[in-house]
Amino acid sequence: MFSVTCVAPVNIALIKYWGKRHEDLILPVNDSLSMTLSTNELCAKTTITASKSFEHNRMWLNGEEVSIEESSRLTRCLKEVRRLALATGSQKVSPSWKVHIASVNNFPTAAGLASSAAGYACLVYSLARLYEIPFSDELTTVARQGSGSACRSLFGGFVQWHRGVLDNGTDSVAKQIVSSQHWPNMHVLILVVNDQRKKTASTRGMQNAVNTSTLLHHRADKVVPERINQLREAIQNRDFQTFGEITMRDSNQFHAIAMDTYPPCVYMNDVSHEIVSFVHSYNNAMGSLHAAYTFDAGPNACLYVLAEHVPQLVDAIQKVFPSDLMDSAEYLRGLPISPEHLETS
Ligand code: DP6
Repeated sequence: MFSVTCVAPVNIALIKYWGKRHEDLILPVNDSLSMTLSTNELCAKTTITASKSFEHNRMWLNGEEVSIEESSRLTRCLKEVRRLALATGSQKVSPSWKVHIASVNNFPTAAGLASSAAGYACLVYSLARLYEIPFSDELTTVARQGSGSACRSLFGGFVQWHRGVLDNGTDSVAKQIVSSQHWPNMHVLILVVNDQRKKTASTRGMQNAVNTSTLLHHRADKVVPERINQLREAIQNRDFQTFGEITMRDSNQFHAIAMDTYPPCVYMNDVSHEIVSFVHSYNNAMGSLHAAYTFDAGPNACLYVLAEHVPQLVDAIQKVFPSDLMDSAEYLRGLPISPEHLETS
């Protein structure tokens, strides 16, 4: 019997992935770029045990058993990792042995905070450790087939998922741009506006968007390629002004696409919009960008802020937003998070 335990953090996109050109292989219509958070906060932890005596593959998610067979994404990830194990892995653990997988998130899965990204990255990374498969770009293509954004959580720091051009998806890989050490004072503050499960899941929301939004295609073809280059440069130069502006513009355009979808998808709520206005007023008052927001497919805000500006920002947020403005009874929960890499034990 062999066992391995790994931890993988969530990543938060600065240039969003929204729209697939192939549903099963999970090939995106545009490149995306994200920052991976620290393994001290918001992460998935997965233990996988392989044994000759196990009769079935089984999986537990946050303590509840889930059916692997009923999930085409789980089945595909297992199959793909086993293929790599046969090609490049050691023979210590036979790929023919059945596995038991137990995965937990240290944050509410319902909060819409990229739980599938951390979960699938952790699953694929743990399987790779189990079979002693060397880390490669190809591993990111396997995580991608679990959940698109998961391929970016295989790296720490700033990461780009290249859309690729091939139909078989072998060039749709994630690559690290710089490690977390490059910009160690970059923090994220997560404002939990609402921790309920989102109304329209990302997978369905983006399918509808690809089919009905003309803005989506304009963004993918004309806007994202240039934005990716500008953001990469801003990250290289630790230029928070450009970094912040591109991040906010991309979040706004992503939600404009959600509204351009027919029928529209509304992910942000009134409090989210209040936060947007607050950040712009705050930056104006500061005389330059001190904070940049981004919103995924839900109302919660992620604010990028440099470590030295965190206390002042938290103070201002607490003055402006009384607790009864928040849907969540938890009030504003600020989690200053610094980026880090995957851990194994
Ligand atoms: C808004 O990766 O959850 O967070 O590939 O269908 O599983 P599937 O979608 P998913 O979508 C994430 C969308 C996003 C933007 C992003 O993380 O880039």
